[in-house]
Amino acid sequence: MKKDTIVTNAGRNPQDNFGVVNPPVLHASTITFPSIEEFQNRNLQPYKGPQYGRSGTPTQFALEKAITALHDGYKTVSYPSGLAAIAGATTTFLQNGDHLLMADTVYGPSRTRIAGKVLERAGVETTFFDPKLGEGIAGLIKPETKVIFMESPGSLTFEMMDVPAVAAIARDNGILSMIDNTWSSPYLCQPIKLGVDVVIEACTKYIVGHSDVMMGSVTVNNEEHFQELKSMANSYGYHAAPDDCYMALRGLRTISVRMQRHHENAFKVASWLQSRSEILKVMYPALSSDPGHDLWQRDHLGASGLFGVIFADGDWKAAAAMIDNLQYFAIGASWGGYESLVIPAYPEKIRTVTDWPHKTPCVRFHIGLEDPDDLINDLEMGLVRYAANR
Ligand SMILES: Cc1ncc(COP(=O)(O)O)c(C=O)c1O
Repeated sequence: MKKDTIVTNAGRNPQDNFGVVNPPVLHASTITFPSIEEFQNRNLQPYKGPQYGRSGTPTQFALEKAITALHDGYKTVSYPSGLAAIAGATTTFLQNGDHLLMADTVYGPSRTRIAGKVLERAGVETTFFDPKLGEGIAGLIKPETKVIFMESPGSLTFEMMDVPAVAAIARDNGILSMIDNTWSSPYLCQPIKLGVDVVIEACTKYIVGHSDVMMGSVTVNNEEHFQELKSMANSYGYHAAPDDCYMALRGLRTISVRMQRHHENAFKVASWLQSRSEILKVMYPALSSDPGHDLWQRDHLGASGLFGVIFADGDWKAAAAMIDNLQYFAIGASWGGYESLVIPAYPEKIRTVTDWPHKTPCVRFHIGLEDPDDLINDLEMGLVRYAANR
């Protein structure tokens, strides 16, 4: 099956549900069994089917099957948010006394909340590394290192990593490789095929695609990893609500056309911004001028709608004059929905290994499915306001 056919078919079988096209929403806490024997044996084959609502409903399993198929993975566990998925994956495979290597450019809360709070309290030490290190990461490995956590590109400053090289080094050293693949979505990149063991998606973004559901997933590459992950998710009581799983699965069915359009629109807007004298740099690996372009081209089938810009001069007063009055870009966290968004970004505040040399404002755009010419006109008027307030 080719990818677009997987997107439309995986995780559903109408003949199981009276011919209805989409898997039904099955709400459940209690799952009943026809005999004492079957009730008592329900745990003999752990996680093979519904046992209790908390450990998964058929609606959840349908979504998990579809994400697994798209990733060409072994199995997937879903979580109530992307951050819960990151917490679930890292706490499954790390424990007291272990060491974690984490890219310096990961999503802020992966660093501050997961590494800095959850894992630190559990007695896990974290070392951050320059995402451009590539095979040089071998020099940071200690006997206690158990996980290497990547995000490529980083979702604030968009540095690409040599994911297959890092995954190979992890494997050679008996270390688990893990990646937050949210920028790409399983439609544009399948890290398991690049050698990564554990792939996290904040489904809240492109899988849901409509800015109205929180959801996360973790896909693994073998039964042993699945059993560990699912057992820990169950121990924490993580549960993905059936209505949310349904919405995520509904979003997933159109991810192919949405991602293609996000790429086209973002590429047009990013190229236009790159040509403007007010902009020092557009950080978007799909642009041939981007330092990560070759890695992106090698490992990805396209680009998403998220990129950053650094202004050539001016300050936050000028940036606010531009951004506050944009017509089609709402100011708001998250991304991956059908609509355009913008937020101020402060990379200098969250990295510790690599220097952020810029003093001028940095802004992150999410380019939605609007007509890109309208977006460009909006931004052009914004740049006039920027220049007037500089
Ligand atoms: C790259 C990345 N990973 C994970 C998350 C967390 O996802 P959620 O908001 O669903 O918790 C986000 C949210 O912005 C993100 O940008």
